Amino acid sequence: MWKAKIITAYPDIFPGVLGHSIIGKALKENIWSLDTINLHDFGCKERNNIDDSPFGGGPGMVIRPDVVEKAVMSVLDDLETKTPLIYMTPSGKSLEQQDLVNFSQKKGIIVLCGRFEGIDSRVIDNLGFEQISIGDYVLSGGEVAAQVLVEGCVRLLPEVLGHSKSVLEESFSENLLEYPQYTRPKVWVDQHGNEHHVPDILISGHHEKIKQWRKNKSAEVTKKYRPDLLQKSKKVRN
Ligand code: ADE
Repeated sequence: MWKAKIITAYPDIFPGVLGHSIIGKALKENIWSLDTINLHDFGCKERNNIDDSPFGGGPGMVIRPDVVEKAVMSVLDDLETKTPLIYMTPSGKSLEQQDLVNFSQKKGIIVLCGRFEGIDSRVIDNLGFEQISIGDYVLSGGEVAAQVLVEGCVRLLPEVLGHSKSVLEESFSENLLEYPQYTRPKVWVDQHGNEHHVPDILISGHHEKIKQWRKNKSAEVTKKYRPDLLQKSKKVRN
């Protein structure tokens, strides 16, 4: 069973989105497991402090290294020494689909959620955490980012979506964004009385032409929104 272990100061945020839809169903069916580890269980002395003010001054609080170490040690057993240790932070490497593929092929992941001004760097370096960001913006903590990461991994588990075509064809599998999709009605009349038709090609029954149309659309959408990906995709094909 693929295991996600989340170390957080706010365990009540979980399962959050991970308890719903196909991911939540797979959780109930024990295809994967979710454990939350509360940093406050490893706080210092009587007051149970998990954080302190930053050396060198500045606003906010920093999570203590000894607290994080104890929390990590509580989930690491011998079997799990190769389990990726991931720290969610806006200062990390940008998360990509290939990272999700790699993590989903391990036995599981241990995810540390940052809060406040961050976590003492010594424990991040010393325990060998990979630092991962879900984008160039700052959230108030790593919990939502951790849910993004775990959801992205779980849906790739063979028992969840299987090796279905939808996983293989979806965005980023070839560094291209997905082509647009349409469903019934063939002609949608909007609230102003305007008609919107499904592209004729999609109801023509010509499978080869549809394939080509979708390829072209993927390239068009990618050129418009993510020209940087188009460069990567050319390199992959060459
Ligand atoms: N914590 C706060 N912002 C984040 C981000 N963009 N990615 C990952 N973790 C975060």
